Amino acid sequence: MTEKVTLWQRIKEDILCVFDRDPAARNVFEIITTYPGVQAVQWHRLSHWLWLHNFKWLARFLSTLTRWMTGIEIHPAVKIGRRFFIDHGMGVVIGETAEIGDDCTLYHGVTLGGTSWKEGKRHPTLANNVVVGAGAKVLGPICVHDGARIGSNAVVVKEVAAGETVVGVPARVVRTKLSEDEKQQQQLAQSVGFDAYGTSNETLDPVASAIHGLIEHIHALDKRVEAMAETIQRLGGELPPEDSIPEIDQCELQQDQSDNNS
Ligand SMILES: CC(C)(COP(=O)(O)OP(=O)(O)OC[C@H]1O[C@@H](n2cnc3c(N)ncnc32)[C@H](O)[C@@H]1OP(=O)(O)O)[C@@H](O)C(=O)NCCC(=O)NCCS
Repeated sequence: MTEKVTLWQRIKEDILCVFDRDPAARNVFEIITTYPGVQAVQWHRLSHWLWLHNFKWLARFLSTLTRWMTGIEIHPAVKIGRRFFIDHGMGVVIGETAEIGDDCTLYHGVTLGGTSWKEGKRHPTLANNVVVGAGAKVLGPICVHDGARIGSNAVVVKEVAAGETVVGVPARVVRTKLSEDEKQQQQLAQSVGFDAYGTSNETLDPVASAIHGLIEHIHALDKRVEAMAETIQRLGGELPPEDSIPEIDQCELQQDQSDNNS
């Protein structure tokens, strides 16, 4: 079932999501008054409403005015999900039959365009959490699936799978989706406050490399313990409930370490 969201909630989300995606954003007043992308999306929500209620000319006129004011052209028929952010904005063009899911981000100069003059679906669909880099063109009735990223100035003419990163002209895949193992490693790293995603294997930082190695090692150990637990259960043994495992007292641990050092 789709969650019911009030107009006010939508506007609030459109504004607040800017803080997560632009480190330069300082406060709500600044976002409302100086972010053309945020302004264009709010005007689009109104022109889309007019379009759906059959005020077609008024809807198009409003989107033309918005284009004059912001440099962003969004056809009023375009369906846009929640927390959509267009950074900088100038030169963005989004065609009539394009569809955009939740939490998508576009940069300036992006075109979601068609490749044919035939009526019907001729523009792309972006699923959720898609990022389209500055100047990229996504052309035709293709789908860019969840979490995909499109490099700046890429020209995308084929479907992009979930989690993939594509770059170049025509766009080619440079990073495929994470495997289950990599996803688990990433979760483990995030749970200990380390962003392994930003660390490539060729990293030159020895501390980050060491932590990365430790995380991989812990992940391998976790998998072995899980396999052993499964075997014990299969042989009829009982495992202690998880909450009965004593937590390590960090203060005691530090005390032990300093005793060992002295
Ligand atoms: C595509 C993008 C998301 C890739 O990020 P990533 O997953 O961290 O990938 P990397 O930076 O490790 O790059 C992977 C490869 O793609 C190449 N690459 C990255 N971005 C590229 C681009 N836009 N065009 C062509 N090649 C690109 C890199 O050189 C690298 O090639 P190599 O493996 O031969 O060395 C990012 O580069 C990008 O373009 N983001 C858009 C940002 C943007 O538009 N900002 C505007 C701010 S105003």
